[in-house]
Amino acid sequence: MGHRIFVTRRIPEPGLDVLRRECQDVEVNLDDRSLDHAELAAKTAEADGLLCMLNDPIDAALIRSAANLKGIANYAVGYNNIDVSAATQRGIPVSNTPGVLSDATADLAWALLMSAARRIVEGDSITRRGDFRGWAPMLLLGGDIIGRTLGIAGAGRIGTAMALRSKGFNMNVLYYSRSGNEVLEMELGACRVEKDELVKESDFISLHVPLTDETRHFISAGEFEMMKRSAYLINTSRGPVVDEEALVDALRAGQIAGAALDVFEEEPKIHPGLLKLRNVVLTPHVGSATVETRTKMAVMAAEDLVSALKGEQPVNCVNPEVFD
Ligand code: NAP
Ligand code: GLV
Ligand code: GLV
Repeated sequence: MGHRIFVTRRIPEPGLDVLRRECQDVEVNLDDRSLDHAELAAKTAEADGLLCMLNDPIDAALIRSAANLKGIANYAVGYNNIDVSAATQRGIPVSNTPGVLSDATADLAWALLMSAARRIVEGDSITRRGDFRGWAPMLLLGGDIIGRTLGIAGAGRIGTAMALRSKGFNMNVLYYSRSGNEVLEMELGACRVEKDELVKESDFISLHVPLTDETRHFISAGEFEMMKRSAYLINTSRGPVVDEEALVDALRAGQIAGAALDVFEEEPKIHPGLLKLRNVVLTPHVGSATVETRTKMAVMAAEDLVSALKGEQPVNCVNPEVFD
């Protein structure tokens, strides 16, 4: 194909191989940084196909100024960074990478849950700085996981994978979603509940909703007031799903026991209050960051972009109405 493809960051080679097999003109930003808005707009303006990252804001102005653009492939399952309706208006299909990253992300969410409950990061830092002075009966007491209540907000692909990991811990599982989840009900005896009940009853709340107008600040001051003082909040969805200011207040006041976050409201900025607290575990948005998963995402995004350039509907198209 004589198309021009722009890839906003270096991704695993198998994905680039797919693009290069189909297209002679594949440009990859090899700098180890995101492009600023002007650079991104300049590159997109010349492109037929764009393979972009979750932290590239693909807004309406950028989409409108890209005269030749025929496809956008997001290297992520969440696509809140893209103005999809602007793309749809121009007849441009947008694709994402669902499914292939569900297990890796659920593994990270589970690792965060355990790290918060058992104070692993605090323990590591005490040990490293030479402050481990021998076994002690009251050292780093955390919270039990076995038999406790796990609350899943957003029982989709990742929320389901997260809940299924609770099997070995004999947990009660509650979930909140707009539709029912038979797998969770059959496999775990999970109960679908209203949001307030999930917030009040859970010992661990794990967030797996997409970021939308409805889910922005899904957890805020009112929810922290309702949560148990012994409860933990785990967020691997999107930062703005939690009101970070309210979270800092709740953690400071001991309104909840702890939190573990892979995502932040204004990435890569971290609320300075979070950095000072010991009852929060912080990871730099690495939910899908395994070699195997990132490779699958690269191939999936590349194949879908090639389909879009051929005028075919990408397998993981988020705006299929473009093809109506
Ligand atoms: P998904 O399968 O679409 O699941 C999202 C679930 O949220 C759906 O089951 C949906 O169910 C529910 N939901 C949507 N809006 C809701 C609302 N207003 N209230 C309650 N529930 C709502 O998506 P996924 O593949 O599991 O991914 C979930 C999110 O995880 C992504 O959007 C992304 O932001 C994030 N993510 C983060 C990382 C990371 O690196 N930390 C990695 C991958 C994904 P109903 O429609 O039935 O409500
Ligand atoms: C990662 O955050 C994703 O949405 O894939
Ligand atoms: C702890 O190490 C124990 O033996 O109980």
